[in-house]
Amino acid sequence: MLITLEGIDGSGKSTLMEALRFSLADLNPVFTREPGATWVGDAVRRAVKERLDPVTEALLFTADHAAHLAAVIRPALNERRLVISDRYTDSRFAYQSVTLEGTVPSPLSWLQALHAGWSLRPDRTFLLILPVKQALERIRDHSRREHFESEEILANVQARYLDFAAADPTRFVIIDALKGKEEIHAFAEAEIRRIVGWSQTSRRS
Ligand code: TYD
Repeated sequence: MLITLEGIDGSGKSTLMEALRFSLADLNPVFTREPGATWVGDAVRRAVKERLDPVTEALLFTADHAAHLAAVIRPALNERRLVISDRYTDSRFAYQSVTLEGTVPSPLSWLQALHAGWSLRPDRTFLLILPVKQALERIRDHSRREHFESEEILANVQARYLDFAAADPTRFVIIDALKGKEEIHAFAEAEIRRIVGWSQTSRRS
């Protein structure tokens, strides 16, 4: 079972991830992230700080995804572990479809084609949504912002995320990120336990 957390910078994904790490310990999940779960991801993190051209950047994030799938996700799923990833392919589809605008003709189709055949679709995706102004407030203190963290880019990225959720309502679970941390955590934890219970039941039947 593969569960992903998505949302714009400042949406509270990392806080939720930390809370789940603690409360879901009995399920023994693999907690992982993109970019950065392998050395390829570390290189990508460094490269992103350099403001590379958008195609290079998109390919680097995708290379990180390939390494992440091969080294972390597929082995864990093969062992029937629960995998929870902080960002995954929807991050590329949302962010890079914005940054590639004007560089390639149909950025989203280009990105989808790049992933076709070898990537893996998550079973469930929690999408944290909040007004961009509030997200920027929350990341105001970051010593050095990622270059994605401008109001215009994040507004476009969030609009893409919402489009994906509308197109795939059985996979996406939208969470109001303005709600309290505890409420968000309790909801996500209960939902994950429910989904995992389901998957075990369906495997038995
Ligand atoms: P990260 O350090 O995980 O930031 P956060 O803590 O906000 O999740 O990710 C770094 C940045 O990289 C973040 O602004 C989102 C962006 N990103 C992409 O543009 N494309 C991708 O495929 C991924 C995984 C991240």
